This record gives sequence, structure tokens and C-alpha cells, in this order.
Amino acid sequence: MSETTTEDKSVVRVLFVDDEANILRSLRRLFMDEDDMEVETAASGEEALDILREKSDIGLIVSDQRMPGLTGVDFLEQARDIAPEAVRIILTGYADVNAAIDAINRGGAFRYITKPWVDETLVSTVKDGIALYSLKHENERLTALVKKQNDELQRWNTQLEWFVEEQTVEITKKNQELEGLNTRLKKNFNDSITIFSSILELRDMASRNHSRNVSEMSANVARAMKMGEEDVEAVRIAGLLHDIGKIGISDALLVKAVGEMSPEELKIYRQHPVRGQAAVDSIEDLREAGLLIRHHHEAYDGTGFPDHLKGNDIPQGARIIAVADFIDKSAGTYTGLDTASFLIVQLREAGGSLLDRKTVHYFEEMVWSIYSGASQSSDMEEVEIPVYGLKPGMTLAKDARSGTGLLLLKKNSVVNDKSLAALKRYYQLDPAKTGVFIWRKKAA
Ligand SMILES: [Fe+2]
Ligand SMILES: [Fe+2]
Repeated sequence: MSETTTEDKSVVRVLFVDDEANILRSLRRLFMDEDDMEVETAASGEEALDILREKSDIGLIVSDQRMPGLTGVDFLEQARDIAPEAVRIILTGYADVNAAIDAINRGGAFRYITKPWVDETLVSTVKDGIALYSLKHENERLTALVKKQNDELQRWNTQLEWFVEEQTVEITKKNQELEGLNTRLKKNFNDSITIFSSILELRDMASRNHSRNVSEMSANVARAMKMGEEDVEAVRIAGLLHDIGKIGISDALLVKAVGEMSPEELKIYRQHPVRGQAAVDSIEDLREAGLLIRHHHEAYDGTGFPDHLKGNDIPQGARIIAVADFIDKSAGTYTGLDTASFLIVQLREAGGSLLDRKTVHYFEEMVWSIYSGASQSSDMEEVEIPVYGLKPGMTLAKDARSGTGLLLLKKNSVVNDKSLAALKRYYQLDPAKTGVFIWRKKAA
């Protein structure tokens, strides 16, 4: 027997309380063969209370009612406070009905057994009590187990929530970092292409802004044609870099008009689309643009170069760049006042032979909106103003050049916020000797 608790939970400790030693002995004897119970005995209610305080695992109490000192009912009442889980049984005399009622009401007794008892009745009642205690005990054990598992689950859930939250914060942070890096990378890539494209223009002052103009017009038309985002981007980049193959051409040849070139010079000049494609080919992201660079001098009727492609065999992006290239070059050579009308006539003449008529059609409206501001009538006059007097919306009457002669903005260009800022910046770095010339309405 263990001092404080029964090791095996299937064995229930039973406490018999009676002031008569021979009764306790006969009770011990009666239950000596039961292997699912361990018998404790006490000769008085007081002694039994001490045992209950000492051993917390008493599962069943069987107490006599008539004892000196504490009566059975009084004892059970106190036992109820010390060991509330223990099942209680009272032994009373035949005539002691009130004691039995009290034992049930005050002492919370499970059953009462009249003395003298019939052994089988007592044994089966004790067994019922043990079964009830075991059931309650098992129920409590399972309830405690479920609660413990629930608590554990709750703890895991909370931890999981924290973990997920932590991971989400981390992933969001990483994504933001990546987005930032990506934006910087894209900006650097774009800046590099812009620098690339302006290197050529530094050598050939007449072509100042040519690449940017071609790129902007081409991308606008590509968008108007509802081309996909990636295709529009390829057109924009190819516009910026379309003449990059000219970088290897000598200064003398670079400034020559095509009509003035010797057959040998023409041969060299005509290599620039292929050289341009080769220059960007090592950068995978530029391959699509490289193809457009290669074909930007193909003519719609098949008389162009380098591959003499014809009609719709010429990539759409290259047909767009060819028109934009034609417009910007023609506008640069025109010295009259009505640039827009001049360009429309030129475009219509070239449509179907040099240029794709359908693609030209997309450019016409844009040509009007860009160049009609530059069409000046006889009621306009040319005036010189200081560069700080220049405002967006004004139209240049002469090319604006820096002090060292770099072409900054072409004649008939309508000044916008961007070109005004660039012009002022250049004038600060490389001041011009004169102001800028603009068109102004003559006073009536
Ligand atoms: Fe070209
Ligand atoms: Fe060009």
C-alpha cells in the first residue's frame, strides 16, 4: 500500500469507519479478495478525517452512523469538504430513517445500508460506489486531458499566428526591398539607354533630340495601335537606339545627306541598322528592340535595306519607327512656316512606297497636334527674348543652341515644361551669346 496515493488508478482506496473493531475486521475480511480496492479503516470519525487529510485519493467512504464523538452524518458532512470526489455510504440501524435522510441530504451520501447488513447487498453497493467513483474519476481525467489538449492547441494556434504574422511582415519587407531594387534597376537601365542614344547626337549636332523624338512618337503610335505593353517598350527603346550603329561612321560621313554620298559611302551608311542590332544583341532584354533597329530602313515596297523586306513582312514596330524617323528628319530640313501641312504632304507621298500607308495614318493626327503650333502665318513676327522669359507653349522661331553651338531645341518646337527645364540647365552650363527667338503675334 502506498502512503499517499494508489499507484494503479484502476484500484480504488476504500475507507471503512466504525467504532467496533470486530465490525472493521469482518469488513476487511469481506473485501480481502477484491483486487480492485484497497481497504483503509478508522475507529472514529475524527480518525477518519485525519486519514482523509493525509491521503487525497480515497475514492469511497463507508461509515457507521452510531459512533461516540462524531456521528456518521456529521463525519460525512465534514468528509464532503475534505474529499468532495469520494463516494459516501452510510450504515444505519433499521429504525434510524432520519439519520439515513440526513446522511443523504447533509453528507451527500450515495446510498445507505441498514445494519445488520446482508453481505451480498453490502458488496454490490460498495462495488456500485467504486464504479461510480471510477466513472467520475475517468470523466475528470478525460475532461482534464481534453482541456490540456485544447490549451496546447490554442498555444500552437497563437504561435502559428505569430509565426505567420512575422513571416508576412518579413515577406512584405523583402518584397518592398525587391520592388525598390527593381525600380532602381529599371531606371538605371533606361538611363543607360538614354545616355547611349545621346552619345551619337553629341557628334552630330543636327540630329539633336532625333532619337528622343523618334522614340516618343513611335511609342505613342504603338500605344494607339493597341500593341502589348512589352511591344510598346521594345518600340520605345528601338526608337532611342535605332541609329546607334552609326557610331562607327566617320564624322565627315555622319553629317552628309544620303543623296550626296558616293556608292562606297552609301554602302558603309547602309550597314548601320545591322551594326546597331549587333551592338545591342548581347543584352537579352534588348533583342526584340534589336530586330526593330535592324529593319528601321526597310521600305514598304521592298526597296529598303538591309534585308529588302516587303509589306507586312517588315515588323510592325520597325514600320512605326521608319515613319517617325521620316517625320523628324523631314521637319528638320523644312524651313517654311507650315511644318504640319508640309509633313502631311510628304507622308502621303511616301505612303505605299517607302512607308506603310496604314501606319502613316496613325501618325497624321499626332503630326497636326505637334507641328501645327509651329505653323506660323504672316501675322506672326520673330522676336528675341532672354531665356528666363521663355514660357511653356511658346514656339521657337530659330534653333536654340548653347554657347558652343550644341543644338538644344529645333526651330518651330513648341516649348513644354520638360524642354524648358533642359534648355535652362544647358544655358547655365554653356551660356549662349544671344537670347532665344520665338514667334509672336504682330501688334495690330
Ligand atoms: Fe537610321
Ligand atoms: Fe534615324
